[in-house]
Amino acid sequence: MSLWHPFTQHKTAGPMIKIARTQGAYLHTNDGKCIIDGISSWWVNTHGHNHPRIVEAVRAQAGNLDQVIFAGFTHEPAEQVAAQLLQLTDQHFSNIFLSDSGSTAVEVALKMAIGYWAHQGQKRAKILALDHAYHGDTFGAMATGARSVFNNLYADYLFDIIRLPFPLDAQILEKIFQEEAHNIAAFIFEPLVLGAGGMLMYDAQTLRRMMGLCKTYHVLTIADEVMTGFGRTGTLFACQQAGLWPDLMCLSKGLTGGFLPLGATLATQQIYEVFYDDDRSKMFFHSSSFTGNPLACAAAAASLSIWQEEPVVERLQAIHTAHTQARTQFQEYPAVQDIRLCGTILALDLADSAQNYLSELAPKLYRFFLENGVLLRPLGNTVYILPPYCVTQDDLELIYDCIKRALDDLGHDRRQRAI
Ligand SMILES: Cc1ncc(COP(=O)(O)O)c(C=O)c1O
Repeated sequence: MSLWHPFTQHKTAGPMIKIARTQGAYLHTNDGKCIIDGISSWWVNTHGHNHPRIVEAVRAQAGNLDQVIFAGFTHEPAEQVAAQLLQLTDQHFSNIFLSDSGSTAVEVALKMAIGYWAHQGQKRAKILALDHAYHGDTFGAMATGARSVFNNLYADYLFDIIRLPFPLDAQILEKIFQEEAHNIAAFIFEPLVLGAGGMLMYDAQTLRRMMGLCKTYHVLTIADEVMTGFGRTGTLFACQQAGLWPDLMCLSKGLTGGFLPLGATLATQQIYEVFYDDDRSKMFFHSSSFTGNPLACAAAAASLSIWQEEPVVERLQAIHTAHTQARTQFQEYPAVQDIRLCGTILALDLADSAQNYLSELAPKLYRFFLENGVLLRPLGNTVYILPPYCVTQDDLELIYDCIKRALDDLGHDRRQRAI
């Protein structure tokens, strides 16, 4: 064995499943099995695997322009994606910085926020973030994420954060701002759904209230829409439900329809202007070698045009309707402690003595689901469905049935133990 896989304890995980082919909502294994992708391959896939328009766009791009340095040079695919994103966000932002993942989109946003104040002669030493947050696995992103088993080992190396407790309380936020706003560069948050923290949800009014307070106290807002973006919460972007755009917005995952890696940090004119100067030392010092990769940009441009030309919103609504009915059925199961639904995401907390990521239920359920041809990857005792939008009603029924069988088994196990 030579590969070291992410978030994998190789000693207990068993062999990795070899995938030969993907199509629509399905993964096809080397040994001929087919698995329904109930989590959109780690939340990246939107329109289904190998969507023909994205395949074609990448194929055409590959024959023409592969990669070019993005400092001092530009190209059509990047400019097209930028124009599409600016239009889709109501021209609220003025500039888009491209990188290559969700974590890098977050790092860029944090550095822009800190630089924004520093270039104006204000040292704002703190970042405000949510309890249970997850923003990626690079160091800045880890620092803003909640301290947990994901990053405990590195805790001494992470900068301090002001942490807003969850469930959110606007009064607590206001108190923090009254005392410390002058020292806070930015408030970073996952809007409406905290993904890796356990699919925790909060409503659009709370989001609006929090963003409004940031405005009042002159604290920059960074919306991390890496997971929530591109339809997961029922609208293209979660912030749209609050009716407010942030100062900085981080995108990745579904940006290319999940086809190729690409990150984007959207910044307002106000932020861009602070870096725009005759003084070269004020440029934004950040790059990665593959910034603006033309193939990734071509995939993104194709994916964004699918949003405009195919009935994607209807597909989101159909998933939401199916989830709403399934929720009622899941409520009947004693093993289900809590159910949350937002857009296309349905999450169930199951009763378990360990209510954290290392719950033994997670690997057990993961294996059970896979044996039944369904890819779901519980976050501790939280089972969630986050499907690609091409998923059919029958596919969804298959996933719900599989979860119900697992819940039946859990109920049976518990009764046995009680005897
Ligand atoms: C909200 C959020 N931000 C950032 C990231 C990091 O993205 P990436 O894994 O592409 O670095 C993730 C990944 O799951 C995420 O959910």
